[in-house]
Amino acid sequence: MGEMVTSNPLREGLQTERTPDPCVLVIFGGTGDLTKRKLMPSLYNLAREGMLPTGFSVLGVSREEGNDADFREAMKKAVSDSSSAQVDSAWESFAEGLFYISGEFGDGSTYQEIRQKLERIDRGRGTCANRLWYLATPPSIFKTIVDKLDNDGLNRTARDTCWVRIIIEKPFGRDLESARELNDAVANVFDEHQIYRIDHYLGKETVQNLLVFRFANGIFEPIWNRNYIDHIQITTAETVGVENRASYYEGTGALRDMIQNHVLQLLAMTAMEPPSTFEANAVRDEKVKVFHAIRPMKRQDVDSLTIRAQYGPGTIGGKSVPGYREETGVDPDSIAETFVALELVVENWRWAGVPFYIRTGKRLPKRVTEIAIVFKRTPHLIFRQVDGERAESNVLAIRIQPDEGISLKFGAKLPGAGIRLQPVTMDFRYGSSFGGRMADAYQRLLLDCMLGDATLYARRDGIEACWSLMTPILHAWESARVKKIPQYEAGTWGPQQSDAFIERNGRTWRRL
Ligand code: BG6
Repeated sequence: MGEMVTSNPLREGLQTERTPDPCVLVIFGGTGDLTKRKLMPSLYNLAREGMLPTGFSVLGVSREEGNDADFREAMKKAVSDSSSAQVDSAWESFAEGLFYISGEFGDGSTYQEIRQKLERIDRGRGTCANRLWYLATPPSIFKTIVDKLDNDGLNRTARDTCWVRIIIEKPFGRDLESARELNDAVANVFDEHQIYRIDHYLGKETVQNLLVFRFANGIFEPIWNRNYIDHIQITTAETVGVENRASYYEGTGALRDMIQNHVLQLLAMTAMEPPSTFEANAVRDEKVKVFHAIRPMKRQDVDSLTIRAQYGPGTIGGKSVPGYREETGVDPDSIAETFVALELVVENWRWAGVPFYIRTGKRLPKRVTEIAIVFKRTPHLIFRQVDGERAESNVLAIRIQPDEGISLKFGAKLPGAGIRLQPVTMDFRYGSSFGGRMADAYQRLLLDCMLGDATLYARRDGIEACWSLMTPILHAWESARVKKIPQYEAGTWGPQQSDAFIERNGRTWRRL
């Protein structure tokens, strides 16, 4: 598979000094949605771009009946259906490395079969007993699988020169206690350096660029603090609703689904101190310090520092859409939140007094993820010719997706007599500067794991620190025992309370 190189100007972005060792990726949940939508298209793109090692193989494991040929066929369809990859002449060679076992995850015989099949793959394809286990199943089965791997010694390396790693999908727990239990269960079987807790936001090109922007340019760091920054806004807005994931989402809600993981990771990348090297533990140490510096919410403050709401019926892109409670599989009395806004404070010298406003929601008017650094206004404005003339704040907006890029808003003189101010922007856009397709986050993360680089994966202490921030909010919401939470019309920017929430402090949400 090594020679299938296609031209992609962004390939350099994934270019590494090393190629991963030949290995087998074993996916529990091999016929599941994540495998079809994300993992397989990403692996195929890596193969096409010549980034995978020779002999690289995938062993899918699921309950569904089937054999290697069925699996290859199903994966071919999955890749053809995906928007990020296209089946082409490279497929046949890639598909030769796809294998399948049908079995129950709790059944010891499944693991014996896995062991035998892996040995055959090693012999046939030279994969040298390097293993990457991928838990792409519902979290309720994570512990069962790791225990079974332990029983069969599949967590250990066959030789000193081989490696065994495990990637664990989200959700990683549903509160602090369950996250600790899961961490303990995995730590009984694998060493921390073998464990890769995935958060696909960390694999997004623009999220990594945030670190490059901050730490490879000298001009921003001096102003990246409370002396110049008024506040920070982080928005992750989606137009989609709950889709076909009601059974998962009902017991989860937006705080767990988006904030505990993705948004807090974005916040940490924005707020962290410069690590001394771009090395996994150095970066993660700094991120964890940010989580520890966030002021935990006291129960009595939860009402004033959080907003939760649920989408009602409305219109998105000219199409009527049902409210959350009318979605298939959703309890008509559900109080699962689909929108959350929070005000967080990072208590350290850099950020004292700079609020972080974060919001996430489904069925909002636009899909957009953005981190906005809103700077303090000028202390004194000399242009007062026009009544009410006021300089707007400078805003540095880091657009994570779509239209990835960075823009800086500043005031300019409107041409003509007199002095009138008008905000304008300086823009950097990935598309126009680099062209080409942006690598999918999973592409980057899978490759990093094969290379043994955990920089963009969450560490145990980080996960637990995030949960310890979210758990008091969840407890306060649960103990309120409300029958209904505020509703917002689908296709709008959340409940009315959301504007008042930020405006009480004299700020406004950015109109995106
Ligand atoms: C997932 C959430 O982790 O992230 C989904 O479970 C959400 O609910 C998705 O839609 C958003 O990811 P992205 O990459 O589309 O912004």
